[in-house]
Amino acid sequence: MCECVGSGARSRRPRGASLLQSSPDVANKNIQTLDGLGTANTPHPLQAAFVEEQAAQCGYCMNGILMTATVLLDKNPNPSDAEIKRALDQVLCRCGSHLRVIRAIKHAARTIQARA
Ligand code: FES
Repeated sequence: MCECVGSGARSRRPRGASLLQSSPDVANKNIQTLDGLGTANTPHPLQAAFVEEQAAQCGYCMNGILMTATVLLDKNPNPSDAEIKRALDQVLCRCGSHLRVIRAIKHAARTIQARA
């Protein structure tokens, strides 16, 4: 499942479907993708935490996981394991890095809260 974030709302597409949306659907809306989340020199706390926790295996699912986690932490800055699992329910990771993903999201949450 691919994911992008537009004006705080997620846009999900079924696995294998195009991420394309018609222009009128996104006109005058902010669209955030993984490319805009951070940079190599100044990564978003989620990106830094995923590296530090070695949460990515093949990386196939990381776009959907990172953008879903971005929305989650925007809405809930201190999510529980259950809330993280519920948020990521529709994002498939075939590598089984779920425990590391949860650890990384909680790591990022602590970093974001420390900076606030
Ligand atoms: S890291 Fe490979 S599918 Fe999630």
